[in-house]
Amino acid sequence: VVPNITIIGSLNTDLITRTSRIPAAGETLISSSYDTGCGGKGANQAVACARLSRAKDSRVEEAGCTVNMIGAVGDDMFGRDLINGLVSNGIGVDEVRVKAGEKSGVAVIIVEEESGENRILMSPNANYALRPSDFERLPDPLPDLIILQLEIPLVTVLHILKIAREKDVEVLLNPAPAVKLPREAYSAVHHLVVNETEASIITSTTAQQHSWALWGDHMERLIDLGIRHVLITLGAEGVIYIDTEVQRVLRVLGEKVTVVDSTGAGDTFVGAYAGMLARSGKEFRDFHTMMHVVACANRAAAKTVQKGGVQSAIPWRNEVSLENILASAGSGI
Ligand code: RIB
Ligand code: NA
Repeated sequence: VVPNITIIGSLNTDLITRTSRIPAAGETLISSSYDTGCGGKGANQAVACARLSRAKDSRVEEAGCTVNMIGAVGDDMFGRDLINGLVSNGIGVDEVRVKAGEKSGVAVIIVEEESGENRILMSPNANYALRPSDFERLPDPLPDLIILQLEIPLVTVLHILKIAREKDVEVLLNPAPAVKLPREAYSAVHHLVVNETEASIITSTTAQQHSWALWGDHMERLIDLGIRHVLITLGAEGVIYIDTEVQRVLRVLGEKVTVVDSTGAGDTFVGAYAGMLARSGKEFRDFHTMMHVVACANRAAAKTVQKGGVQSAIPWRNEVSLENILASAGSGI
């Protein structure tokens, strides 16, 4: 049987505007373009996971894993579109709740044209109606891997971590947007994926960008959380991967690409990493396999930033070239 990955997290409608510059207080500025799309860190990661597990236009049955989403939308048009978006990617939606009287989650996204950098204002709405009581009945069979982010209530995330620990289910946590979690929460986590800002928040270091001194500091403090696989995504600088059990560190360099819209790059990395990981099987996670998984996920994320939009920019497996995949990866102790 193929592995089953369950993403528990947010679904948002993204309202995306592109602009030459950010408007000042009190200023009205005309945007360069506007688009809507399906988003939410949870849903984006589910889509990345599903797409990286099979070729475009292939049948869902040919995928290397099954992907299910657990989340909540409102009983509105946005909610129906969000669910349909997942279905069209072959993702199971039986556990996506429609919350009566709630609005679906919305994210207002401003993309600066020159840098492709984004600013996001997210209104959780129905996502915050996903409560611990929604998890009285667990999916049967239990998933092989659960992926969590922090766009649903923290109590719900902590509740799921507790269940996962009891049932011995593997967990990937992407603490975005970041808050500091109680230390024991990390004992349920096998894979931690953070960007530099999130690393600073959960390790309580001050953020300065891109220096080995800072990365070293982050690495030390993150290793201290006792998680087996630690990943720090560095945007254009690539990614650092640490296997704390075999005590090895890998740095994959950033791909040289033109950034059109960086929104969802982190989500693509997480979903791609999980999908590739699931395919490699639980027994074969030697450092070389992990190098391959991390480098592929890095390349998938680099694809996403070259296109506008979020889910519409996430590549399928056959769209990520594996040529020279380890050329940019250097490993150390
Ligand atoms: O990570 C990108 C996502 O963050 C967007 O799709 C938006 O919905 C926000 O949740
Ligand atoms: Na994009």
